Amino acid sequence: MENTKKRILSGIQPSGDLHLGNYLGPLRHWPEMIEEFDCYFFMADLHTITVRQEPAALRKRTLTQIAQYIACGLDPEKCVLFVQSHVPAHSQLGWVLDCYTMFGELSRMTQFKDKSAKNADNINAGLFTYPALMAADILLYQADLVPVGDDQRQHVEICRDIAARFNGIYGDVFKVPEPYIAKVGARIKGLSAPEAKMSKSVPEGCVFLMEKPEDIMRKFKRAVTDSDTVNPVRYAPEEKPGVSNLIQIYAATTGKTYEDAEAEFAGKGYGDFKKTVGEAVVELLRPIREETERLLSDKAYLETVYRSGAERAASVANRTLGKVYKKVGLLSR
Ligand code: TRP
Repeated sequence: MENTKKRILSGIQPSGDLHLGNYLGPLRHWPEMIEEFDCYFFMADLHTITVRQEPAALRKRTLTQIAQYIACGLDPEKCVLFVQSHVPAHSQLGWVLDCYTMFGELSRMTQFKDKSAKNADNINAGLFTYPALMAADILLYQADLVPVGDDQRQHVEICRDIAARFNGIYGDVFKVPEPYIAKVGARIKGLSAPEAKMSKSVPEGCVFLMEKPEDIMRKFKRAVTDSDTVNPVRYAPEEKPGVSNLIQIYAATTGKTYEDAEAEFAGKGYGDFKKTVGEAVVELLRPIREETERLLSDKAYLETVYRSGAERAASVANRTLGKVYKKVGLLSR
């Protein structure tokens, strides 16, 4: 049967542990996405090493994230889940595209400037050519759509430019992808500093998907609120960022509206409120954590998932790579 679904591709760097902000934001909607689109998801481990990694930790996180994505509802029968480094075509096309990407355009990348500032002792060539590898990731699969957050938009733009440049020289080799504004759920802020979004770099305000219930409860009990005693639990993001964030988490977790949440806690203090929100989050995450643990104890199964994912991915990727090698004039074997 002809597959008429549009193709979506997305890479996720296994550079940190997934948290509640990731889950209540984009991740939760991915299971719907795999019904609607032909989806390729991979762990972008090659991108991760542009910043120094602890080898054992990187390996462990890569495997854990595969398990977590499956536990969050990405059924590996319904989408292609794989590890970037398992499909050599990514590196191979990455090199070719390096030769079609300009120094000037790479120098203008915001992420390169940010990461160079943060890693001043390790401004390596990989950090610089990162967008060409990302373009290879996308173009190998002739993807129609790339779901990205704001921080990756510029990388999809440069991918489009590289594809158009290459097609301009050699004919229509690559599909020029569109950025896809995926449905994002809630934009969750950190519990300890509710001005900024929840982030693994502020662990005391960040609830990780694999965290134990008692640790989650402790973080919620310490969540920053305010000293309002008159009408404490109400949604007012400017005036009450901490409380509003907790209401948002509660609403996203339980499916209740903000008004329902306010009504439920009318006349109650922050102690009860924080405990109830924490308990709701514990119950939301419990099945995901338990399923992830179960999967991680079944290494043989995970292996079959990423092996078959890599095979399916490689058969698409190698077709594109073959065309590219031929177009640019590499002698075939
Ligand atoms: N750069 C992306 C990020 O940091 C990860 C990524 C790598 C990616 N290759 C990709 C995303 C291809 C989309 C498509 O989030």
